[in-house]
Amino acid sequence: MPSQETINPAARVRSFPVVERHRFIWVWPGDPALADPALVPDLHWNDDPAWAGDGSLIHAKCDYRLIVDNLMDLTHETFIHADSIGDDHVAEAPFDVTHGERTATVTRWMIDIEPPPFWRAQYGKPGRVDRWQIIRFEAPCTVAIDVGVAATGTGAPEGDRSQGVTMVVINTITPATDKTCHYFWANARDYRRHEQLVTTQIKQGVTRIFAQDEAIVEAQQRAMDENPDHVFYNLNIDAGSMWARRVIERMVAAEQAPQRVAAE
Ligand SMILES: [Fe+2]
Repeated sequence: MPSQETINPAARVRSFPVVERHRFIWVWPGDPALADPALVPDLHWNDDPAWAGDGSLIHAKCDYRLIVDNLMDLTHETFIHADSIGDDHVAEAPFDVTHGERTATVTRWMIDIEPPPFWRAQYGKPGRVDRWQIIRFEAPCTVAIDVGVAATGTGAPEGDRSQGVTMVVINTITPATDKTCHYFWANARDYRRHEQLVTTQIKQGVTRIFAQDEAIVEAQQRAMDENPDHVFYNLNIDAGSMWARRVIERMVAAEQAPQRVAAE
């Protein structure tokens, strides 16, 4: 109100603590006294000069937790992304699940395989590879996925990735309503970093792949809406998303507990 001498003190909106980090703006909607920037998940790949990439935003018509479920179980790639990153190896390879207070991690190695089309193109040469997917959920709703391929037998599982390419797929989701969410995604790679063409092509490729996911999670939401009494069964592969959901549930309960006491 630049032409106004005095401003009605009632004309104001609530403000929220924010922190800008790793090209995202992190909003704290809770008690401002408890806002702690140390709680912002580490997504440094998104603005680290050692990495290059780009991202976008999807307004998904689903419960935000369905996105987490989708990311924690990448065996869906075999069926939904068969023309790019999916193949039988993803569904058949063994996997490990670990968890902490605020995290859940699913690790999968596919040793000595022919890479699927997307990874063949990123790798840029013929030959068999070791492929990895290390999926890390961090509270409240961020999933960073360390993926890549390296020449088989060159020590990638032991930590030497010098004969391969690595990408981190960054996913961070903000609920909008019970049945909609803002799905922010980005990817960062450690190879051909100064080639804008590669950045653009990967962004277009991931945009197409994530549209396939969007169709599935929105169909899941519709199916859940139409069958509210349906009982869900968890399979072994759901261990990662179960731990992630447990972390989220604990945080929601902790946040609501003092409010409940105050209301009583
Ligand atoms: Fe997917």
